[in-house]
Parts: sequence; structure tokens; C-alpha cells
Amino acid sequence: MPIYDSGGGWVLETARTAYALGIDERGQLVHRYWGPRLPFADDYPPPSSPREWAAFDSPAHLARTEYPAYGGTSYFEPCLKVGFADGTRDTRLRFAGAELRPGEPPELRLALRDEHYPLALTLVYRLHEQNDLVERHAILCNTGAAPILVERAFSAQWQLPLGKHYRLSHMCGRWSDEGQLRREPLPSGTTILESRRISSSHHHSPWFMLDDGTAQQEQGLVFFGALAWSGNWKLCCELSGQGTTRASIGLNDWDFAYRLEPGESLATPACVGGLSAGGFGGASRLLHAYLRDRLLRERREPRALIYNSWEATLFDIDVESQGRLAEHAAALGCEIFVVDDGWFHRRDSDRAALGDWWPDARNFPKGLTPLIDRVNALGMAFGIWIEPEMVSPDSELYRAHPDWIIRFPGRPPTEARNQLMLNLARPDVQDHLIATFDHLLAEHDIRYVKWDMNRNVSEPGWPEAPGDARELWVRYVWGVYRVWGELRARHPRVTWLSCSGGGGRADLGILGLADRVQISDNTDATAILKIQESFAQLLPAPVLESWVADTNAERLPLAFRFHAAMAGALVIGGHLARWSEAQRAEATELIAQYKAVRAIVHGGERYQLRSAHDSPFPAILFVSEDRAEAVLFAFRVYAPDPAEMPALALHGLDPEACYAVEGSAARRSGLSWMHAGLSLSLGNFESAMLRIKRV
Ligand code: GLA
Repeated sequence: MPIYDSGGGWVLETARTAYALGIDERGQLVHRYWGPRLPFADDYPPPSSPREWAAFDSPAHLARTEYPAYGGTSYFEPCLKVGFADGTRDTRLRFAGAELRPGEPPELRLALRDEHYPLALTLVYRLHEQNDLVERHAILCNTGAAPILVERAFSAQWQLPLGKHYRLSHMCGRWSDEGQLRREPLPSGTTILESRRISSSHHHSPWFMLDDGTAQQEQGLVFFGALAWSGNWKLCCELSGQGTTRASIGLNDWDFAYRLEPGESLATPACVGGLSAGGFGGASRLLHAYLRDRLLRERREPRALIYNSWEATLFDIDVESQGRLAEHAAALGCEIFVVDDGWFHRRDSDRAALGDWWPDARNFPKGLTPLIDRVNALGMAFGIWIEPEMVSPDSELYRAHPDWIIRFPGRPPTEARNQLMLNLARPDVQDHLIATFDHLLAEHDIRYVKWDMNRNVSEPGWPEAPGDARELWVRYVWGVYRVWGELRARHPRVTWLSCSGGGGRADLGILGLADRVQISDNTDATAILKIQESFAQLLPAPVLESWVADTNAERLPLAFRFHAAMAGALVIGGHLARWSEAQRAEATELIAQYKAVRAIVHGGERYQLRSAHDSPFPAILFVSEDRAEAVLFAFRVYAPDPAEMPALALHGLDPEACYAVEGSAARRSGLSWMHAGLSLSLGNFESAMLRIKRV
């Protein structure tokens, strides 16, 4: 059993790593070890109990408490803060029992209870042995007769080995500029990254990597974690005066409260954590493997090629215009034709109609079926855009149910993109959405749904809330999960895309429901290289929908634009009717090449050979699972001449095997391609896609 009781506590061993915790002399559950797996049970340090140091630094404060609750003389970021009915606001947790559950994955459950008040806490650890990951969440239960007000309930605190000065890797940005990758030394004190937007957001993303400043793309020890949550989240990285480093992650406590009724439980979202000795790339590949093994429906299958008509026709759509685009898309080799925004009742612009999800009778007099039939006759499946969580004030839905929106009673709700948010915390709103989209999917042969979310919350009120109105922050997200989960279960043949103005909701929570995410609304290929690389820290290539549209087409060659998007899940979004014959012929050829390598891109391991964030020569290598084949994408963005591209070290190949790179007569070992490298010469905004085969 990879989880065992080691006498001094518990050890959780994955293929290469271990995580240990135990009970200290004071009866507290404390962290013992997180690092490479060790040969013997006694190799893991016992629980340590710090000595009294000064009145200001008590043992309670210095202890490496596994899931600290606010209370006593402990001042680090707690995982838990609650208020009891009599006004007491601190919590004293005592260990109450452990349970080992074999199974796949195996699980350790540790029970804790408050010394005096009726609060039970269960810490759940699931071990993903082959992915080198520990998955954690916490369950709070009110075992008393009066409500308990929960003000913070994180999923986990990860304690890093002592004595190092860590560097934090994370992602920041904004709409249309998501995915700015940062690697920055942690300052003293607490660094907070979060979302307050009711989605995981374009601005930061709920994951982290921590290394001691020396890790590189393919070497060095990297600790990492990611939260499976699509709403407000918070990450607190705390570097203390004693030199300890902790990363706490979970539901954001900002503006949050949850009234836990007698007998009620609250389970936090899951958080995975792991470490890799193979640098940032190794850490990413562990997360990719976890997604493939545990979250995604498709593991290594090549994903269908999509045409999406949004950028071509915007709101100006009807059977004829879409039919003509579909003919071009089919001729190019596209496999799913997606009609985006604008197909439904009176949706002429973004000023009206969200909520009225039936086909516009003016543009689709016989409904969607004639277009779907035409698309199917061209050999493609049909896909559609929806934005379930939103309503336009100018819509039949809003006129019928003005009370269904998120709002404060005394304030006019603020519109963004002329839309308001439905309160998905309400079961009646959830039921309405399930019925509406179940009907749409039952009545039509729709195989792909793009679920969009084009604004963030404002006036986060819920006047009819049965509990505390601030529960909105979690109940809304549970509502999204319920509606989506129900539709997905009822319509298993549909592929789902999560889009929120591009990459505003691309997290491990939503990927329990969506099969793919749209990485950005920005379709400039040089931007895509950066955004894709950032999302690929966490998510594998087949999940990352990347567009070839007409953005900066005059500056960037078609091949460059295709190559950038081909390193993810390719979507064609240009106005094909306006492309020249020559462009369409070139695109057809590029698509044929994409289809020839897509099994490796979508099923293989991803190696970022050079970063788009700090080099004008970004390059990505995908290596098939059996290492027999690889495909290289290499780019040169603008670099003033004379500029010589440094040789590319090809990682991930079998060092002993011999490989040939397309276009070169050389047969060299994997080790040679890695150390002597591959020399390429590219001009500004040129790119290359090369196949590599074991010979
Ligand atoms: C968002 C999406 C786009 C498109 C539009 C439609 O911005 O990210 O791809 O679907 O909405 O309104």
C-alpha cells in the first residue's frame, strides 16, 4: 500500500516522491516531509515539536501544523476560520482518528475535532501514485445544534522544505492578454494571488510552482500545486521571519461567509500538489498526465479540427452565409463547423437576446436543422455557441424573471457588455437552464458546444438567499457545475469547450466538465505562442484551443499562424470566403500536415525547448509516448539581424536511440540531438514544423 502508518504518523509514497505527516507531542497534526521518495520508513523525519522561543513565537506558532485553524498564538495564514454561535472565533483542532481506504486512488482520511465546539473536520488525501501527485481537500461538518459561520475554508496548505529562498512561477494577465508567465523570487511576508470575479479569471490562475531559484525548464526540483475550482480562489505564499515557506490555496475568503447549519457539511474543492526533479517541464508533464488519467474523457486521442465562424461573420449570420463558409471549411479538411454567437432569437448585436435560446426565425426560418443537415452533408459535425449564465435586459427571459439576476436590492445592477448575470446559485435558475439546453441538444444533432462567459460579477447580492447571501461565491459555481454536469451526462456525444472571453475560465475545476478551453480572444500568432506556453504549464496541448484567424495576417505568414496554433488544438477562424485561392490551397496543405502529426501533438509529451516569453526563437517539441516519433515547431519572431538562432537541444528523445530529422540526412543519437542540438536558420516571422523519427 503506497499509504502507510509509519508509527510516527503516515507516509504517502508516489512513484518518485513522498509526503509525510504525523502527530506531535502536543497532539497536533503536523507536516513532516515533502520531497523525493526515500527507501525506509525511518528515513522520514519524525514530527517535530518546536521549543518555546520567545513570548512572541510560541510552539503553537512555530509548529508546522498541517491544516492550521485560526486561534491561540498562531499567526501564519490559517486554512480555517469560523465563528461559533456564542461569538467565539477561534478553533482548537485535536486529532480524532485516521482511516486508510485502499482503492484506486487510495485515500487517507484524518479526522479532527474542536476541543470544545461541535465542529468536525476531515482531511482527505488521495494518492495518484503514477502521477506523483497528492490530492487534498477538507470536509467541515457542524455536529451541533446551532449554525457555525465559516469565514475561510482553504483546501490545503503546502509546506516547503526549510532553508531555501523560493521563486514563485505563476500566470498573470488580462482579457486578450492572458498567460503572462512570471517566475519571481518570493518576497518576505505574504504574496497573495486571487480572483474576486466569480470565475478563475484572465488575471491570475489557480496554480503555482515553487523552486529554489535554480530550476530550469528540464532540470531542478520544482514543487507545484493547482486548485480545481472555477470561482473565487486565493493563493497565499508566505515566507516567514523564521525562513519557513508555505503555500495555502483554496476558496477565496474575500467577501465570503458560509452558514453551516446543524448537521450540514461543506467540502472544499480539491487541490493537487506534487514535485518534479525534472524542472518546470517535468512538473507540467506530471499535471498533464494527471489530467489525462483522471479528469479528461479523452486521454491521448487526436482532437477534431474545428472551424468557427465568429470572426468571419460576427452577428451577421443566416443559413446561406454559414452554408457558404461551411463549404470552404469542409474543403480545407475541417471536421466540426461551429456557429458562434448570433444564431438565437433577435440576437443582432450584443445589446439584446441573451436568455432567449431558440433559433432566430428571421435568419433560420426553418430552424437550425437545414444548416445542420448541410454541414453534415459536407462531412462535418455541427457545433454551437451558448452563454447560459447571462441574460440581456432586453430579452424575454429577463422580462419574465427580473429577480433571477445577481443583484443587491437597493442598487441598479451594472451591465457589462450589455448583460447581467443569472444567479446560478438558485436551484430554479439551474433547473431552467438544464431544461432549456437539454431541449436544444435533444432537438438537434449538435456535437460540440462552446460555453461562454463574457463578463465578471458585480453587485454580488442574493436577496432571497436561504442562508448567508455571501454563500453566492460558492453556490454559484456549484450551480454552474450542476447544470453543465447534468447536460454532459444527458448528452454524452457532445464535446464541450469552456470559453470566458477566451481563457478566463481555464482551470482544473472546469476541466472536470469541459473537454477543451479557448486560450484567448487574441488570435495574433505571436501572442498565441506565449499564451499557449503559459496554459501548458498546467494543461496538455489537446485541451488548448488555438485559433488561426485573420489577425495581423498582413504581417504574419499563413504558415507561421498555422504552426503556432497547431501546437494546441487547432481552430480555423478566418473569413475563408475572403481568402485567396492560393491561401486556401496553402491552408489545405497545412491542415493535411496537422492531421499527420496531431496524434503526436495531442497524445505525446510536450517539451518547451525555448520560451516565447524570453526568446525571439521559441520552439516546442512533442514526443510520442513510445519515443519513436516527435514533431518540432520552431519560430522566429522579430529579432534584429544579424541574428543567429542558437542550436536547439531536443529533449525527451531516447538518448540511446538513433533519430533522423526531416530535411537532414544526419542520423544521430537522441543524446546528440539533445547536446549537440539541431541548427536551424529562420528569417523574421518564419517558422518550421519538422518530423523526427527513430531509425
Ligand atoms: C467571446 C468569445 C469569442 C466569441 C464571442 C461571441 O468573446 O471569446 O470567441 O464567442 O464571445 O460573442
